[in-house]
Amino acid sequence: MKHSRVRLVMESALTARDRVGVQDFVLLENYNSEAAFIENLRRRFRENLIYTYIGSVLVSVNPYKELEIYSKQQMERYRGVSFYEISPHIYALSDNTYRAMRTERKDQCILISGESGAGKTEASKKILLYYAVTCPTNDHMAILGDRLLQSNPVLEAFGNAKTLRNDNSSRFGKYMDVQFDFRGTPVGGHILNYLLEKSRVVHQNHGERNFHIFYQLLDGGDDDLLITLDLERNPQNYRYLVKGNCPRVSSISDKNNWKVVMKALPVIGFTEEEVQKLLNIIASVLHLGNTQFGEGEEGDTYITTETQTSNLAKLLGVDGSALREALTHKKLTAKGEEMISPLNYEQAVSARDALAKAVYGRTFTWLVEKINQSLALKEEIYHSSKDSSVIGLLDIYGFEVLQQNSFEQFCINYCNEKLQQLFIELTLRSEQEEYETEGIAWETVQYFDNKIICDLIEEKHKGIISILDEECLRPGETCDVSFLEKLEDTVGSHPHFITHKLANGKTRRVVSREEFRLLHYAGEVNYNVNGFLDKNNDLLNRNLKEVMCQSDNQILSHCFRREEVIDQKRPEMAATQFKNSLMKLMEILMSKEPSYVRCIKPNDAKQPGRFDEVLVRHQVKYLGLMENLRVRRAGFAYRRRFEAFLQRYKPLCPETWPNWHGRLVDGVSTLVNHLGYKAEEYKLGRSKIFIRFPKTLFTTEDALEAKKPEIALTLQTSWRGYRERAKYQRIRRAVIVIQSGWRGMKARRRAKRRRQAAELIRRFIKGFIYRHEEYCPENEYFLDHVRYSFLKNLRQNLPKSVLDKSWPTPPPSLVEASEHLRRLHMRNMVIKYCRRVQPEWKKQMMQKVVASEIFKDQKDSYPLSVGRLFLDSRLEREQINLKVIQTLGSDKVQYGVSVIKYDRRGFKPRPRQLLLTNTFAVLVDRTKIKQRIDYFSLETGISVGSLSDGMFVLHMPTEDNKQKGDAVLHCSHVIEVVTKLAMMANKTSYVNINPGSIRFTVARGKEGIIDFIRGSELKVAKGKRGHLLVCFDIKNSSTS
Ligand SMILES: Nc1ncnc2c1ncn2[C@@H]1O[C@H](COP(=O)(O)OP(=O)(O)OP(=O)(O)O)[C@@H](O)[C@H]1O
Ligand SMILES: [Mg+2]
Repeated sequence: MKHSRVRLVMESALTARDRVGVQDFVLLENYNSEAAFIENLRRRFRENLIYTYIGSVLVSVNPYKELEIYSKQQMERYRGVSFYEISPHIYALSDNTYRAMRTERKDQCILISGESGAGKTEASKKILLYYAVTCPTNDHMAILGDRLLQSNPVLEAFGNAKTLRNDNSSRFGKYMDVQFDFRGTPVGGHILNYLLEKSRVVHQNHGERNFHIFYQLLDGGDDDLLITLDLERNPQNYRYLVKGNCPRVSSISDKNNWKVVMKALPVIGFTEEEVQKLLNIIASVLHLGNTQFGEGEEGDTYITTETQTSNLAKLLGVDGSALREALTHKKLTAKGEEMISPLNYEQAVSARDALAKAVYGRTFTWLVEKINQSLALKEEIYHSSKDSSVIGLLDIYGFEVLQQNSFEQFCINYCNEKLQQLFIELTLRSEQEEYETEGIAWETVQYFDNKIICDLIEEKHKGIISILDEECLRPGETCDVSFLEKLEDTVGSHPHFITHKLANGKTRRVVSREEFRLLHYAGEVNYNVNGFLDKNNDLLNRNLKEVMCQSDNQILSHCFRREEVIDQKRPEMAATQFKNSLMKLMEILMSKEPSYVRCIKPNDAKQPGRFDEVLVRHQVKYLGLMENLRVRRAGFAYRRRFEAFLQRYKPLCPETWPNWHGRLVDGVSTLVNHLGYKAEEYKLGRSKIFIRFPKTLFTTEDALEAKKPEIALTLQTSWRGYRERAKYQRIRRAVIVIQSGWRGMKARRRAKRRRQAAELIRRFIKGFIYRHEEYCPENEYFLDHVRYSFLKNLRQNLPKSVLDKSWPTPPPSLVEASEHLRRLHMRNMVIKYCRRVQPEWKKQMMQKVVASEIFKDQKDSYPLSVGRLFLDSRLEREQINLKVIQTLGSDKVQYGVSVIKYDRRGFKPRPRQLLLTNTFAVLVDRTKIKQRIDYFSLETGISVGSLSDGMFVLHMPTEDNKQKGDAVLHCSHVIEVVTKLAMMANKTSYVNINPGSIRFTVARGKEGIIDFIRGSELKVAKGKRGHLLVCFDIKNSSTS
């Protein structure tokens, strides 16, 4: 809570601060007043607000101190935010340019101008850093971003120097293209360099230095390195470094910068060997500077620093004596013949300096090439990035007015004239022309068109450069003064050209005899003609070139090409070269959408907080800022083609959304009416709408921004609807395909099944017809099926017990097998049954089997007896008298039962016990054994009645006198008793079952008869004729 409040307070403080003066000069009340303009700059500068807009042009005042406005958070703050919404910043311009590139797909360029020390290079570095940090990137591109950033310190080390105006002044012009792919990722870069101030290599004005790299090497290089390069640490020992008498600069740490450069070189693709070669060249320039000459008696020259020269030759990788010769002689070709002539002292010195400049200058160009190789768009990316766009950054020397202005200043200021022309071309003139073509009422703004000055300098045959070239080429005695005279002759009448001779009295005093004055758009500059011809010629003796061609240092052999020596054609003069490269640059810039950063230097002392009004006014003037503002104010801040405007803002008006079908101008008109634009706020041209105030546009932009979610929603909804419909259609089609496939398959399956079924039925019918035939193809299926069905059916209906006699009826072909199976099954069941049977039960069963053999179907009571178990004995042990047991002795009673014995005569019933031992049976009357019946004597067997009665007769042998005749007995368990007895006596076949009556022996020769009849009650009694009559009561038939 607290934090956010603090932040809010801070932010509002910041915006309040931002509001010092006006953020955009367009909003300045008194826009025609230069004083008001400068006052606004000053007020903002005092609050460290260094950036202010003029429309879309950014004015930046060098603060000469570190401001806390370049952090990553600040970058984020400006990212994707509308240009005017937030306080002016170099990041806002960078972001705006980037977005314009992406949305409009048009190449962009940012032109940074301003005088030396105004902060151009710093601005360009900030822009690059902004892109490196905020643009989308990937690993590969991160390397590229790194290279882009790292190329800066290297280029600065070799191309920047301390001047009086700027401790880190760029002594070359730089145009850098950053290439972006369609995603907005930086994918490549390319640098064009312009006119390095080579003269600095051999000479520096007082208080200035040579290029940084020399000092960095001496200060930062370790001892070993200096020894190999044969260098000493003190820069004062090198003539090329002492001219300005300023070896150290407090604001610069050469040592640290050396480290930075050494780290950066490998990043931008330098091998160790290349670095070494590069350092050799740097050292060789220093040694070259220390090469001294002596004058011979005949005006010839010789080298006085012999040892230095051999080291120098070693470092340059050339032959020592050839180098010596080339430094003191020149080669001439006269009438096709080569001649060598010695140089005089001055010539030798200038040949040496020319070599130093050439070596350094060409090495610098090589360095830029090398960096370009490392930034080059890789082949594969190039092909995939047809949609790539470019943002160009131009950081080129600003307008320069020194105490003594020479050829370099002439070129630099010419360049600025060209840039001003471009600016006029692209903004002022094109703006006014646009109003005209659009038919917008418009008061013309007066501006100075500097074309006249450009023409003065560059016109073919008549321009200063042409004259200079001519003068250089002219045979005969030429010198700088003759060049000046020639100028006076040719362009003397030009209103922007003055010399001492041409000037009137007042001006004459400020233009010396060796000078000419140009009235530049930005002010007057006197140029001293001394050195113009030499510098333009930029001559290097041919024999020096030849020596350098042979260098075994790859960098040098790359820089000095053999073709150059062979080619007799004169190379282009320096000024013409520069002119041509500027033409190309203008072409490049013309093809792009420009943005401007106008840098202003607040004071000459490089001090923070000091605002030198005179100095600033001068810059405001030559940067054309007032004109710029006037045009902006008179004109319209914003213009757009109707279709573009309508396309962008149509969602803001129901009539134009989503599509306007009428004329474009009516659409725009409807739209702005709906938005409530006032008449003075806008004008409709023929094809464009012009909006006067930025504010109007911001409001519209804000409205659009607020509307965006709604539009997004609509788009989303319709897109989703479309997508869902498409998805649904896709699914539907898929369903139909699957369905038809599936149906087809099902139908095919069904048809197949039907076919198979028909075939089966046919085979069945055929098989049925042939069923009685032998097994043959016609009936095999049928018969097999019948068999199979039978067996399958049999398996499920096998009898579960031995008593179950059911068995499925087999088909004719299986009768035999069926029978086998039946038997097998039965046996199997029996075996299983038998395995389960206990000995007790077995005995029981055996007895039952015997009973069955004897009685089955013979005696009425038999079926009932089957279910009743035979007992081991019917008498308990206690029921048998002990005496009887004792009498029997070792013959154990196996079975005992109570019976009734009928006397043979009279048939008196007497209760008895019948006891069976293993070999005989006894009839016992309580304690007495009444009769013993040996089994072996039961010869004539046992007789039983066929009814359900309990009568049985044991037939005794008649011849045995000891026996009392047959025993007539009655027992309710007759079947059990008889079975046991028969089994013990082993006389089962001796049991006779007699229906009707039993005959028995009463005594020898005397027979008794037992008659059986069915009656209503059980009765055993003496009947007629002395027969024993047994009447069987059906109701009591349960006895056995
Ligand atoms: N935005 C800034 N913040 C802080 N210091 C700055 C800024 N811009 C410039 N400076 C200071 O001003 C010095 C000069 O700036 P810079 O080198 O960019 O000038 P320049 O316009 O490139 O000059 P030249 O034309 O000589 O190359 C810098 O070294 C730095 O100290
Ligand atoms: Mg610079």
